[in-house]
Amino acid sequence: MATSQWWSSESFWRKTAIWVTGGSMVILILLTMDTLPQISAGSKRVPAYSVINHRIEYQLDNTRHVQVPVIGKEEPLFGVKLTEEEAEALVSHGKMTVQAKNCMNCHTLLGNGAYYAPDLTKAWLDQYWGNSDIRETQMVEFIKDPSNKLHNSLNRRMPNLGVTDEEARAVVAFLKWMSAIDTNGFPYNFKSIEQEN
Ligand code: HEC
Repeated sequence: MATSQWWSSESFWRKTAIWVTGGSMVILILLTMDTLPQISAGSKRVPAYSVINHRIEYQLDNTRHVQVPVIGKEEPLFGVKLTEEEAEALVSHGKMTVQAKNCMNCHTLLGNGAYYAPDLTKAWLDQYWGNSDIRETQMVEFIKDPSNKLHNSLNRRMPNLGVTDEEARAVVAFLKWMSAIDTNGFPYNFKSIEQEN
């Protein structure tokens, strides 16, 4: 009668399964601990929420070969300078609105969502919104009532989603903050606007 090999024993595989599961868990925890500080607001690539008090510019990073955000001069959203807490509250409200209205059904934000409509990750810096004097109000008006269509390239219209004025302003704050995130050159082919003066 053939004696069974050590590697075919049940207890060996049970122990292996326990060690592999435990080991993977430790690695996942370490990776999570490494990632969290890098994706939190106020870190190197993800700016603090009060960045919405500033102009967002872009410049080519020659070593990384991607466009990277540069936090420019003071240029508060809607002309009102906010504290970090106020800015966080506004940006969070915008993010909640985007989630509640399911904008991702058509748009992509930070790599998540659909490509039926334009990528919103850097929409704050879309040239269609005009100069810094009218940029935010144009965006608010568009989000509240997209029937006053601004873009022609897609030949698709955005439906009116019943976004209130307060929600639209918060969404714009969220979009401005998001545009300041260093996304490693994503979306591909993104070109910022010219911002003189
Ligand atoms: C049913 C699909 C759909 C949904 C849902 C939708 N959009 Fe749109 N959105 C569009 C389309 C289509 C366009 C392009 C319209 C145009 O060019 O005039 C657009 C354009 C935009 C733009 C201009 C993009 C740019 O490049 O400047 C913004 C900003 C925007 N949408 C924000 C939102 C927000 C915020 C929400 C959620 C509250 C939302 N959209 C939900 C279809 C949608």
